[in-house]
Amino acid sequence: MKILITGADGQLAKAIVKSKPSNIEIIALTKNDLNLIDKNKIKKIIRETRPDWVINCAAFTNVEKAEENPDLVMKINSESVKTISDTLKSSKGNLLHISSDFVFDGKKGKSYKPYDKLSPLGIYGKSKAKAEKYINQILGGLNQGIILRTSWLIGPYGKNFLIKMLELHQTKTNINVVMDQIGCITSTTNLANVCWKIIKNKSRLLDINNKKVPILHYCEAGVSSWYDIAEAIGEIGLRYKLISKKAKINPIKTIDYPSKVERPLFSLLDCELSKRLLDLKPPNWRFTLEELIKEIKQNKL
Ligand SMILES: NC(=O)c1ccc[n+]([C@@H]2O[C@H](COP(=O)([O-])OP(=O)(O)OC[C@H]3O[C@@H](n4cnc5c(N)ncnc54)[C@H](OP(=O)(O)O)[C@@H]3O)[C@@H](O)[C@H]2O)c1
Repeated sequence: MKILITGADGQLAKAIVKSKPSNIEIIALTKNDLNLIDKNKIKKIIRETRPDWVINCAAFTNVEKAEENPDLVMKINSESVKTISDTLKSSKGNLLHISSDFVFDGKKGKSYKPYDKLSPLGIYGKSKAKAEKYINQILGGLNQGIILRTSWLIGPYGKNFLIKMLELHQTKTNINVVMDQIGCITSTTNLANVCWKIIKNKSRLLDINNKKVPILHYCEAGVSSWYDIAEAIGEIGLRYKLISKKAKINPIKTIDYPSKVERPLFSLLDCELSKRLLDLKPPNWRFTLEELIKEIKQNKL
């Protein structure tokens, strides 16, 4: 089986490539190899390589900068997905598209189920929601597409909250972290394994969304604020001697954090459907954090 991965320099794509089963051929394309702005190149590469699956990990992921570059963000996060879906429809390939909790506004007050109505707030969320709409329009009912939503991705490398917090604990005395955004982290390692499980078990997911593309959620178990996570990173990082000191974390409110973008305040994803269909048992987020910190420590030895 041949799998094409976009955004291959990103944290999730790297974890997917690292955990690939031995019988899988991977075509991992970085932004340099395939810039999603280039529609003709997307078509050409898919037509020439004829992958069984495209895992679309590439995205403009900086939600702050997205507000300043709406046209570019829409091209990368939405329009390219339309082209990928159209081309895969003709080549009979499958799309596993990675989407985000930012397609919701966080005002539901309960965890979000896969088929809840989309209500994105900022440009990034709107671009991810539009991509989902295109996938449904083009691949709905064809059993060629799956949308996998996740939240708060962190991993042992790349640009993410875990790596940033470890650095800040080590270098700062005080750190301000928001305590009123609630959700859950997701480990790139665990999400990569879910991607492989989806590909292996595609037949279990057919027809779960009647003429539309199946949507699955994955994040770790439990619920937390960024403040709780920052505290836990300090505590576990110190215990594993990854940092030699822990900063004082000051809990602040979202309205006191300078930002151009409105973020969902409660964006916990309900993962019951994916747990049932794929026999998943997501670990608690604290356990996951400890596993990732152990991995970073191991990589440094
Ligand atoms: N990070 C999160 O918290 C989070 C949460 C929910 C969902 N997601 C989704 O999960 C997926 C993976 O996220 P991630 O955290 O692994 O992101 P990431 O580390 O930022 O990786 C994204 C990759 O896409 C590349 N990219 C950007 N513009 C591109 C373009 N025009 N053409 C081709 N590649 C381009 C980036 O390259 P450059 O860095 O060189 O621009 C980067 O290598 C994305 O779809 C994201 O929307 C992420």
